Amino acid sequence: MSRHPTLSVSGLSVDYPLTSGGLFRPARTVNAVDGVTFDIAPGETLGLVGESGSGKTTVGRTILRRVPSSGGRIQFEGRDITDVDGAALRKLRARMQIVLQDPYTSLNPRMKIGDIVAEPLLVHGLAESSDAARHAVRQLLDRVGMPADAADRYPHSFSGGQRQRVGIARALALKPSLIVADEPVSALDVSVRAQVVNLMQDLQRELGISYLFIAHDLAIVRHISHRVAIMYAGRIVEIAPRNDLYDNPVHPYTEALLSAVPVANPKVQRARRRIVHTGDTVDIANPPSGCRFHPRCPLATDQCRQASPPLLVKAPGHLAACWNRGR
Ligand SMILES: Nc1ncnc2c1ncn2[C@@H]1O[C@H](COP(=O)(O)OP(=O)(O)OP(=O)(O)O)[C@@H](O)[C@H]1O
Ligand code: SF4
Ligand SMILES: [Mg+2]
Repeated sequence: MSRHPTLSVSGLSVDYPLTSGGLFRPARTVNAVDGVTFDIAPGETLGLVGESGSGKTTVGRTILRRVPSSGGRIQFEGRDITDVDGAALRKLRARMQIVLQDPYTSLNPRMKIGDIVAEPLLVHGLAESSDAARHAVRQLLDRVGMPADAADRYPHSFSGGQRQRVGIARALALKPSLIVADEPVSALDVSVRAQVVNLMQDLQRELGISYLFIAHDLAIVRHISHRVAIMYAGRIVEIAPRNDLYDNPVHPYTEALLSAVPVANPKVQRARRRIVHTGDTVDIANPPSGCRFHPRCPLATDQCRQASPPLLVKAPGHLAACWNRGR
């Protein structure tokens, strides 16, 4: 096993331009990701959870160098890749793949399944001949549980779950060591989600791939992840081994997210429900001062309004960013 984490992200920040600016007007930016730090070990799955707009996709795309970072470093297999470009970046992209949410739009409807899966092999020059490519494609499709004749058919003749299997086969073609899976099962029927997730787990055990697994479904995240990170308004507010996080959450936002399980104190229960169900998500263009969660937090104090809490160790392997919780 490699000595290095597969991925190591430290202090990652991303600013999106909001306006183009001008001669007398500086460009305004949105700080969508702010100081995000985490590692993913070889063969590990880190789940990434948080409400819509919290920056999960931005983190995933920045790691893959599809969105420029404005601060921090990204290390991949022990090498700093924050600034690589040109041929080195193209080579790197083979080792880091993405699986997207919508299997209906992510596969080109005019291409046969076999060509879709062969494409990355051909683009990266990894198949010696078209026969070799066909053979590799057959093996990949078989590995993800697609029928033998799938290569000659078009995407429209398959279900959502099957198309996502094709998306996974395509991502596997270049033998990546990291896959960013951005809500890979969210668009699928509940009945097939578990099958696709189990396939991803089997492939991980067999091939030692690391996953950054982005999702809203907390049960699925608990099932597939070794550790889970919770994002709120561009920051990681808690990160821990999955059972620690689900059984002993530290951050009030994590607690609220997991609040499907009722607690005895009706006041606490009401506050949690309000946090999760209130529609007023953060306006990331004008984030709150201090702890970005303070306007919604039942425990907020003056300190929370003034200063941003650092992500600190609260128990072994369990980090959270809160002034008023934990050690
Ligand atoms: N290309 C862009 N230009 C400007 N702002 C963007 C861009 N992409 C995302 N944003 C903003 O950055 C923030 C984070 O977006 P992101 O898509 O990363 O969130 P997310 O956590 O993946 O949300 P969801 O759960 O809805 O997929 C949001 O406020 C979003 O509006
Ligand atoms: S730092 Fe303060 S506002 Fe933020 S989560 Fe903790 S108690 Fe709530
Ligand atoms: Mg997203």
